[in-house]
Amino acid sequence: MGLSKRSIKADFPIFNDSDLVYLDNASTTHKPQQVLDAILSMYTETNANVHRALYDIGSQATERFENSRKRIADFIRAPSEKEIIFTSGTTESINLLGRTLGNDLGPKDDILVSEMEHHANLVPWQMACDRTGANLKFIPINDKGELDLSEPDRYFTSSTKIISIAHVSNVLGTINPINDIAEMAKDVGAIFIVDGAQGVPHQAVNVQELGCDFYAFSGHKMLGPTGIGSLWGRMEILERMDPFMGGGEMIDTVSMNSSTWNEVPYKFEAGTPNFVQAVGLGAAIDYLESLGMDTIAKDEKEITDYALKKMSQIEGVRVFGAAKNRSGVISFNLTGVHAHDLAQFLNKDNIAIRVGHHCAQPLLSSLNESSVARLSIYVYNDKSDIDKFCRSLITVKNYF
Ligand SMILES: Cc1ncc(COP(=O)(O)O)c(C=O)c1O
Repeated sequence: MGLSKRSIKADFPIFNDSDLVYLDNASTTHKPQQVLDAILSMYTETNANVHRALYDIGSQATERFENSRKRIADFIRAPSEKEIIFTSGTTESINLLGRTLGNDLGPKDDILVSEMEHHANLVPWQMACDRTGANLKFIPINDKGELDLSEPDRYFTSSTKIISIAHVSNVLGTINPINDIAEMAKDVGAIFIVDGAQGVPHQAVNVQELGCDFYAFSGHKMLGPTGIGSLWGRMEILERMDPFMGGGEMIDTVSMNSSTWNEVPYKFEAGTPNFVQAVGLGAAIDYLESLGMDTIAKDEKEITDYALKKMSQIEGVRVFGAAKNRSGVISFNLTGVHAHDLAQFLNKDNIAIRVGHHCAQPLLSSLNESSVARLSIYVYNDKSDIDKFCRSLITVKNYF
């Protein structure tokens, strides 16, 4: 059975009595009432600092927080909830790795990323290279906007120590062959990190089947609150890593001159965690699972194919990226219209899309563009949203 868009939309207060066509889901997503209720009930019923308070609402808050960790572990099929670290999102997750794993490198070591990375999966590695003298290497992309893995020996070498690649490109929509890269990483003995910001919200993820060592994602891109995300990692690597930040809860013992660390995952969660948001993320996962991740992926593919077909019928529309395996992120330009003008015109029709470099300046440079328009689809979008968007696009084209 497909998704009932009418009942899904009714769950999202932002769409009540509104003709908003929201097509900026790769940026952030809206929140269903179920998530808002979970957040409100944390604040109104069980607001107390987790892992610290001995009174009833304190233990209830801790239980709800730790249940969310379990929900996330089950959702991505992690072997244990102890391997789930709460962070503020993908950016913090990758910075955590850059500061811990990255610091162990030296001038003879390589970090391998790709040309299509979001700045969140590029800048932390540049910073690690600056600190340690390690070298940053790139897998290029081909004409279709897929990773060019035709000459793996050029990129995967005995010097490659860390590989960090997006599961799904936030500009081209390309779904990368994570299993293949995991094999290549294993062959050279490198640690393999997946930036799952655009992956886990849109398809069923099984980190054990993917074969990676780390998987990072953000709650706000999957119907959850801002300020919460996660990093999954293999326990044997997490155990030998240094902490990322120092402070409360991440310690075991502290004296005036030194400290010892708490166990994983708490070693990586210094200070009061975003426990309310973590519970909100758990509720978002409940919501997504009630729809079914495979159903969501199938539905998104149908709407994406529909959008690509309709857009191809509009003269002057140029879509960037033609990967065979792709998601519901579609970047494009309209000949003769600057992307920013386009967004402003669409906004007059209450249609929200994103324009700019999408935090992927090296990729945009390789496309010879400084700014592109992007629509991105999620569970509440239907074909009528695409129809309205295309009608508006034609009006803009005719106007210019
Ligand atoms: C592929 C990718 N990686 C990382 C990020 C950063 O996510 P956040 O800003 O939630 O940390 C994004 C955000 O758009 C993204 O699309």
